[in-house]
Amino acid sequence: MTLVYMPPSIRHFEPLHMVFSTWVDHLPFGYDLVAALRPRLLVELGTHKGLSYFTFCQAMKEQEIDGLCYAVDTFEGDSHTDKYDESVFTMVNNHNRQHYHGFSYLMRMFFNDALRHFSEDSIDLLHIDGFHTYEAVSEDFANWYPKVKPGGIILFHDVQARLQDFGAWKFWEEIRGHHETFTFNHGFGLGVLRKLGGDRSADPEVLKLLFGNGEEEAASLRAFYVHASKHLENMRKLKRLQGQAQGQGQAKAAS
Ligand SMILES: C[S@@+](CC[C@H](N)C(=O)[O-])C[C@H]1O[C@@H](n2cnc3c(N)ncnc32)[C@H](O)[C@@H]1O
Repeated sequence: MTLVYMPPSIRHFEPLHMVFSTWVDHLPFGYDLVAALRPRLLVELGTHKGLSYFTFCQAMKEQEIDGLCYAVDTFEGDSHTDKYDESVFTMVNNHNRQHYHGFSYLMRMFFNDALRHFSEDSIDLLHIDGFHTYEAVSEDFANWYPKVKPGGIILFHDVQARLQDFGAWKFWEEIRGHHETFTFNHGFGLGVLRKLGGDRSADPEVLKLLFGNGEEEAASLRAFYVHASKHLENMRKLKRLQGQAQGQGQAKAAS
């Protein structure tokens, strides 16, 4: 990589909301992408317990970005996540109100019913992470692509997950050659697609690295985010161990 890439996630980023999700390996990239794009409108299709969504929201807040975020989900689950109970929505709703009141909204509905609430060419950053069959991902893309701004970004999760009837990988294989794309292979894969058009003269560094077509830059960026997510995981482990040691110390002193 010719440039020294020093995104905000490595300077300071401590996820406020940690829940189990395979999105965990993409947290630093999700944070940096939002920080770089400074989206005025961000939409997520598929939020579940909120790991990806609240990472985006945290970046919006900490980077003082003046934009709006919408999380679309029935909050009932599907046959890949399994059906889940009301406690998931309650937890997500509480966290949203507590930390992101005023710019982040939960839209509890089907993706197709949310479509009419968004104008064509309006979304700066769209994350497609709903039901993962080939048919569902194709439908989400076909329905929502027109809503994305020219030059806007679409993220697809699980583009390397080849299990059960997951088909995001197949859909990604089909479309990646027809668009500007970048693929992260770790953490079940994250596809990044850029819609044609838009003003590219003031592109942030991360977009230049993602879509600049340099093989070496692409490999370095991939390696960078594998390390960044590993580092974040290690920091969390360290914090947990320190917390445990502190707890044991206090218990000893009290006995
Ligand atoms: C893979 S999970 C989302 C994971 C989440 N982005 C994360 O960071 O962990 C998929 C979610 O999409 C929702 N979902 C699937 N199909 C949907 C549809 N057609 N309309 C609304 N929600 C849907 C499910 O309820 C589920 O919560």
